Order: sequence, then C-alpha cells, then structure tokens
Amino acid sequence: MVPEIASRNHLKKFSPLIEEALDDAGLSLQDIDLVGATYGPGLVGPLLVGLSLGKSLGYSMGVPFLGINHLEGHVFADYSSHKSSPPFLALLVSGGHTSLVLVEDWGTYSELGSTRDDAAGEAFDKVGYMTGLGYPAGPDIDRLSKEGNTAAYDFPRPMLDKGLDFSFAGLKSAVAREVENEENYSLADLLASFQEAILDTLVTKAIRGAKQANVETISVMGGVSANSALRERLADEAKVNGLTARFPPIELCTDNGAMIAVTAAYKHLTDKEESPLTLGPDPSLRLG
Ligand code: KG4
Ligand code: ZN
Repeated sequence: MVPEIASRNHLKKFSPLIEEALDDAGLSLQDIDLVGATYGPGLVGPLLVGLSLGKSLGYSMGVPFLGINHLEGHVFADYSSHKSSPPFLALLVSGGHTSLVLVEDWGTYSELGSTRDDAAGEAFDKVGYMTGLGYPAGPDIDRLSKEGNTAAYDFPRPMLDKGLDFSFAGLKSAVAREVENEENYSLADLLASFQEAILDTLVTKAIRGAKQANVETISVMGGVSANSALRERLADEAKVNGLTARFPPIELCTDNGAMIAVTAAYKHLTDKEESPLTLGPDPSLRLG
C-alpha cells in the first residue's frame, strides 16, 4: 500500500461516498446530529483526511464530533449484530491486528494477548501474494481451501501450547519455502493446510482465553471473522467446551463505516462523550 496514494483516494472518494450514503438512507446533512470519525490506529495520511473531514462536518453543521478508535469500532460489531452485553472475550482478527480482548463493559477493555509479529489477515494476504492471488486474499483462500486437504502439509503452529499471544511469521516463512522449493504444489492443498494452521491457533487460544477470563462467550470480529471455516470450527469447539461463539454478519466483519457510527452513537447517547476539535490522528492507538 502506498500511503500517499491511499490518502489521495480517501480525498477523492469521501464526497461521493457521503452523498451516496445519505441518498440510500433518504436523509440530508441537516438530519445528522452527531459525527463520528476514526482517529487511529492506521496510516497517518488516510487517518488525517478522514478525521479532518469529520471534524469539519461537525463544526460546520453545529453538531458534536467524536473521534473513534478503529479497533473499538470492530468490537462494537458485536453490539450492532447481537444487541449484546459484556462481559465477553473478543477475538479481534483483521489485516492489521490479532488480539484477545476482555470486554468487561463497553469502553472497558483489557488485552489478554496479541500477535508478536504478523496479524492473521496479513498472513492470509502474504500467502495469497506468494501464490499469485489478488488482494485481499482472505476470501479466495477461504473458497479455495474447501477443495484442499488440510493435512497435506504439516505447517508450524508457533506458540500453540501456552499463553494467549500469537505468532504467524514462522508459518508464513514455511509456506514461502514450500512455494519456492516445490514447483508443482497443489494450490488447494497448500492453502487448506495453511488455513488449518491459522485456525488451530486462533481456536485454541480463544478457548483458552475465555476459560482463563472466566467468561462464557467468545465474540469474533475483524475481516478474518468472515472466514467460513473459522466460523464453523470455533462454533463447534466452543460448544464442546461449554462456551458460545458468535460472529457478526459478513458485511459487518470487514472494515465499514457503520461500526464507527454505531460506536459514536452509543458513546454519545450513554455518556454524552464528545471530542475536542484539536484531536489529532494516533497511528498506534491501542485498545485497553
Ligand atoms: O478488518 P479488515 O477489513 O481491515 C483491517 O482493519 O485490517 O480486515 C481485512 C483482512 C484482510 O487481511 C483480508 O484478507 C481478511 O481480512 N479477510 C479474510 C476473509 N475476508 C477478509 N480472511 C480470511 N477469510 C476470509 N473470508
Ligand atoms: Zn479494521
């Protein structure tokens, strides 16, 4: 991703996007009574464009503005989808993040584990790149894996046996070695075996985390939560362990504006939260 091009694309697309969203909803700008925009984490350029636009809109329309943590937006997919109440364990798996977060209450989070290197989605995208798939590669790997043998390749599952942290860099290198050394590898088998290694890790750690935190529910969110095999397997294994796993509908898994809007609305309605117009982007913002 070229940060400068990403920022310019944000600039180009915002106005038509806002017009289209208002049109679809049958609303005009005058109907809006709160503006929420992401202020981190992420690339500073695109964050700056979106945040400046959000603040300017709020100021010019005379309505409050609220800066939102992108990761908290993902967690709120659980609220939008299930009207749920904490506590629960969030497995946040996206292109930039992989973590287990105990949601004690809306707004009260503690991170129990996170990736030491690559995020799960990033591993999907890098393996997709090595094997000639498009970006993002997660959906293609999900589809192609259905025809493959998950046990064809014995890929590593780093840090599986203990703790709640993740590591996917070694797995990615193992797949790269296979692609370089074996000319006629079976794509479906390779992808299915890779996906299985990721799933083993995510499922094992999520169940361990829920037991450790003494909560009954695991809620998965972020782009990788759209993965069909993960949805099936975690639901099954949670049940075997006396736990429940829930997932947002597919359209709320990957990045979307609705999750930011819902988070802003919830915080403003419950706590009258507002952000000062001096709020700047925070590229390395965390949760908890
Ligand atoms: O949450 P998201 O839209 O953006 C970030 O905040 O990073 O997540 C995007 C990530 C990409 O890495 C993409 O490959 C992955 O989610 N993804 C999937 C699937 N759909 C999207 N990974 C596995 N299986 C899928 N079906
Ligand atoms: Zn995201």
